[in-house]
Amino acid sequence: MQRSSVSFRSCGSAGSNGSLLLLAAATVLSVIASACESRVTPTRQWRPEDHVQPAELDPSRTPSEPSAMEPEQGGVDRAAQALWTVSCASCHGRDGRGKGPGRPPGAQLPDFTSAEFQQQRSDQQLVDVIRAGKGMMPPFGKQVNAEGIAALIAHIRAFAPAQVVAPAAVTP
Ligand code: HEC
Repeated sequence: MQRSSVSFRSCGSAGSNGSLLLLAAATVLSVIASACESRVTPTRQWRPEDHVQPAELDPSRTPSEPSAMEPEQGGVDRAAQALWTVSCASCHGRDGRGKGPGRPPGAQLPDFTSAEFQQQRSDQQLVDVIRAGKGMMPPFGKQVNAEGIAALIAHIRAFAPAQVVAPAAVTP
């Protein structure tokens, strides 16, 4: 008596009692299994993730793609721009020239588009002033966290005609 017959019942479909090769049986099984699955799966609702470009779906490409960083970077820039407009532009002006309509009378505000000003200040000096204030410049250390201040400084640096790596306290 041979007991090598392979029989299976999947989705109630007729099993095969023949002496199939195990490999063939396995193949058939998996086909039937996936057929059952697709029969059971209800129609899915469309989700935004479904609508992505094939390139984005390819995990081997996405991480090294420099463009993958751009939305994030753009988000930080936009946030800094918004923060600037809300908290700083009233005094410093949207254009950073120090002629904002809400500046205190008599205050001498720096012109951030001036390369000279940019060269005279290190990032750390700007951080300190934004945190602690200076003269009629109010302190923002309680309202704006370190990331926000760093983004604001990038924003201030971008007012200048060229990006300057400022050496601290250079006296010509
Ligand atoms: C109430 C008006 C006012 C607001 C609002 C204001 N500033 Fe100022 N800011 C000043 C004045 C006035 C000065 C000049 C201070 C001085 O040199 O005595 C100044 C100076 C500065 C300086 C130059 C400091 C230096 O090294 O000379 C920076 C940087 C600066 N502000 C950043 C900001 C940022 C960023 C914001 C928004 C988060 C902001 N300021 C909001 C009034 C303001």
